[in-house]
Amino acid sequence: MRARHLLSIHDLGLDEVGEIFDLAQELKERQRRREPHRRLEGKTLAMIFEKPSTRTRVSFEVGMAQLGGRALVLNAADTQLGRGETLHDTAKVLSRYVDGIMARTFAHETVLELARHGSVPVINGLTDLLHPCQVLADLFTIRERFGRLEGLVIAYVGDGNNMANSYLHGAAKVGAELRVATPEGYRPDPGVFRAAETDARTSGGRVAVMTDPAAAVAGAHVVCTDTWASMGQEAEHEARKKVFAPYQLNAALLARARSEAIVLHCLPAHRGEEITDEVMDGPQSAVFDEAENRLHVQKAILALLLRE
Ligand code: CP
Ligand code: NVA
Repeated sequence: MRARHLLSIHDLGLDEVGEIFDLAQELKERQRRREPHRRLEGKTLAMIFEKPSTRTRVSFEVGMAQLGGRALVLNAADTQLGRGETLHDTAKVLSRYVDGIMARTFAHETVLELARHGSVPVINGLTDLLHPCQVLADLFTIRERFGRLEGLVIAYVGDGNNMANSYLHGAAKVGAELRVATPEGYRPDPGVFRAAETDARTSGGRVAVMTDPAAAVAGAHVVCTDTWASMGQEAEHEARKKVFAPYQLNAALLARARSEAIVLHCLPAHRGEEITDEVMDGPQSAVFDEAENRLHVQKAILALLLRE
């Protein structure tokens, strides 16, 4: 792995994505067989949270423990960051104590700044712009189910948020076709879209943004969605419920996909809003495998980035 940080899937080479997935597969099998794989003995990961988390916190913490290391949870508001200490100084100080930093922040610039000023690897555990660890786990789950990624059709229906942006980066990187359907005014980030278009030209993938959810899902192998109001947008939740109602992932929409299609949602889900119980708990749902795979994929990322 050449990358020093995991800030965006766009920064990774296709070979590095393959390396992460192959190691994740190996570590998953070792964990299943309860075989020790303490590749990060004695290493410490600091985890900075500006936003809440269940999966990210638990999967990174358990992952570090399974690798023989440990993780520290730092709620940003309870640190001196909350009283105005600069990111610059925080990154430099943490780098003297720990072997890696995982950060979940509002501004994407915050993780970039931690990476710029610290001297240890920085992992993006979600920003307002991107959620790369989640989409790597999603792509790993798709690869497990279909045995490949190239040429598959992935439909993302809902808000053009951090998940949609990382899906654009990820699908373009691995040569899949991604169709994103959002209401007008809620499209993914234009800079991310342009970067994905460029990568898709090299990988043979395709990316398209549209407003019609039925057109996006038609014939898809994978159908995914995410919350309509992300962390930080709570005040817009009620208004968004009206705008996004036609984008609900329900049985009628899913019926337009292939019969063998799988359903993904990064969770937490707002059942009855962006996804119905019927779909979430139905036979096509792979959402809990997807959640489990955060652990295995992130262990691979940690083992590759935090090694000597
Ligand atoms: N999907 C995800 O990142 O979940 P958490 O917010 O619980 O970490
Ligand atoms: N788009 C969601 C993802 C949560 C894991 C958010 O940012 O809140």
